[in-house]
Amino acid sequence: MSTPELIHTIAELQQKLGDARDRAARAGGDGRIVLVPTMGALHAGHLALVRRAQALGGIVVVSIFVNPLQFGVGEDLERYPRTETADLAALAAENVSFVFAPSARDMYPDTANGTRVTAGPIGSAFEGAVRPGHFDGMLTVVAKLLNIVQPDAAVFGQKDGQQVFLVQSMVADLNLRTEIEVVPTVREPSGLALSSRNRYLDEAQNTAAGALFAGLTAAAETAAAGQIAALSAAHARMAAQPLVKLDYLVIVHPQTFVPVDDAYHGPARILVAARVGTTRLIDNVPLTLG
Ligand code: PAF
Repeated sequence: MSTPELIHTIAELQQKLGDARDRAARAGGDGRIVLVPTMGALHAGHLALVRRAQALGGIVVVSIFVNPLQFGVGEDLERYPRTETADLAALAAENVSFVFAPSARDMYPDTANGTRVTAGPIGSAFEGAVRPGHFDGMLTVVAKLLNIVQPDAAVFGQKDGQQVFLVQSMVADLNLRTEIEVVPTVREPSGLALSSRNRYLDEAQNTAAGALFAGLTAAAETAAAGQIAALSAAHARMAAQPLVKLDYLVIVHPQTFVPVDDAYHGPARILVAARVGTTRLIDNVPLTLG
């Protein structure tokens, strides 16, 4: 266990990473850097990302930044959980080298006129339809982090499936050099995908939220019979929990994130979003439509 070095400014981080790379080169290493971008409030899902980063080898940087650009008006920016002391303790236990926790002022000196990344049409679908501008804000901060840290690899969780798709698209479209690593979703025993927002759920809501994964699993198990059968199996499982208010349930092509038609056969991904109380939850799993 070793306490990570906590760095608050871009300039200091770049200086420290330069020194760390030089030290690694002198020791005969390649100075590889792996970034795990987070908004803090770390849970076992984040620690799985950190472990993948450690397994990739080299210098691990975890960023903690609650990115105001990806929160819309009326969303939970102010009440988003901030748990820095616990986060640092968890990262110390994982032997992370650096934690980068910049201020919003350092990241966005010109909030009104700053340049933004735009996500393209898939950025306005599904989560983007409900949270306008969310993915532009997310991609903007990820692009900035990739440029600031210059990592060889960056690690993301599959739980945020649309985010992963859009980050991979941005890296390909803008010819960024970082490899994107995707780690499977970590779940509670009920199947509920771990999320920093799960802490908003009370006990009854938490139990009800297990219906999301139960529905996705039912869809995957029924997928050989085609899209209509898979969707209706998922709907049936989720409708059994009145606390779960479904927002969308859709099957998309894994390479384009465009909804597939009923005649499609082959690999796909089913996405769900629902409100449980005031908490918005998302999840996704792969399936193969017959
Ligand atoms: O997944 C998240 O926590 C955020 O969207 C990310 C990738 C750290 C960007 O702010």
